[in-house]
Amino acid sequence: PLPIAVLVSGSGSNLQSIIDRIEEGVLDAEIRLVVSNRPGAFGLERARKHGIPTKVLTHTDFPSRETFDAAMAEAIAAAGVDRRGLVVMAGFMRIVTPVFLSAFPHRVVNIHPALLPAFPGVHGQADAAAYGVKISGCTVHFVDEKMDHGPVIIQAAVPCLDGEDGDALGPRILKLEHRVYPQAIQWVAEDRLTVCGRHVELRVSGRPRAEQP
Ligand code: GAR
Repeated sequence: PLPIAVLVSGSGSNLQSIIDRIEEGVLDAEIRLVVSNRPGAFGLERARKHGIPTKVLTHTDFPSRETFDAAMAEAIAAAGVDRRGLVVMAGFMRIVTPVFLSAFPHRVVNIHPALLPAFPGVHGQADAAAYGVKISGCTVHFVDEKMDHGPVIIQAAVPCLDGEDGDALGPRILKLEHRVYPQAIQWVAEDRLTVCGRHVELRVSGRPRAEQP
C-alpha cells in the first residue's frame, strides 16, 4: 500500500472518508501518521479510534513557519512516509513552505471546497455562495508554495441554489469531497499521475507498487 500521512486541523471528515475507503479495500494506502496543528482537532480522535498513530505539533510553539514545517517533515519521515509516499492535507489550515515541500516533491496534495482558481482561502463555500455563482464544487490539487494554487488533479461540481449561503452549500460540497479525495489518492497509489507544469495527466493504467521507481 501507498504510505500516507494525513494533516488535519479540525473535524477530519475527509480523513474519515480515507480511512473508510482503506478499510473497504478500495483505496490501496496505509495511513502511517495523522498530524494536527491543533490539539483539540476531532480528526485526532477519529485516527485514534482506528489505531492510527497521531502527532500534535502546535504551530504557535514554533518561532517560524520554517521551523514548524521542519518538525512536521521530520515526524512524517520518521513514520515511514518519504518521497515514494504521499502527504494528504485534509482541512489543514496552514500554508506550507519550501522547507516542507522540498522533503516531498510533488507528493503533497490538498482539497479545497471550491472550483479553483475561484474562491481560494478559508471560506471557499461562503465566498462562492455570496458571489452568486450557479456552480461550485471542490478541487484536489498538488500543493505548491502559494495557497490553494498547485496543479489540479480532479474537480467535482455541484449546483448552487438560489439564496443559498455557505452553510447550506458547504455540506453538499463536503459530500463530493469525500468521493473525490480517496479517488485522487488511489490514482497516486497506482502511479497514474504525471505533473507537466500546471497540468496533471491521468494515465489509463498504472503500475503496481512493486514496479514503481
Ligand atoms: C473541507 O471542506 C476542506 O475542503 C476545507 O476544510 C474542510 C475540512 O473538513 N479546506 C479548506 O478550506 C482549505 N483551504 P474536514 O476536517 O471535515 O475534512
